[in-house]
Amino acid sequence: MDYSEKVMDHFENPRNQGILENPDGIGVEGNPQCGDIMKIYIKVADNRIADVKFQTFGCGAAIASSSMATEMIMGKTLEEAWELSNKAVAQALDGLPPQKVHCSVLAEDAIHRAINDYRVKQGLEPWEEKPGHKKHCHESQ
Ligand code: FES
Repeated sequence: MDYSEKVMDHFENPRNQGILENPDGIGVEGNPQCGDIMKIYIKVADNRIADVKFQTFGCGAAIASSSMATEMIMGKTLEEAWELSNKAVAQALDGLPPQKVHCSVLAEDAIHRAINDYRVKQGLEPWEEKPGHKKHCHESQ
């Protein structure tokens, strides 16, 4: 399988990997088809992602996607972090093989869950996923 240099770099040297103590939000997302799981921890300050870490029990593409996604949302507002798409993550990695695009969806979904976990803990309404998103995820497998 052809992986870009960026994918290999983030797979071999993942950024922001680990656990955040006392996170403001935690998001867990699993892919029922491959059984891989991604966990995202966020700290929020002034409506921005002040810190973010991930744990991924999954394939190399999922690890590279989580690593890149955490770099891309660090310091961003919650609105900006919510808008990060799996396509943008895959693009930033110089592309993923077609059969591995679904792995990057895990990162987007886990970030959404972490943001909504934070929002609910703050007594706010959770934001809604874009319609058709999940469908797209499973179609691409
Ligand atoms: Fe499961 Fe990549 S094969 S996330």
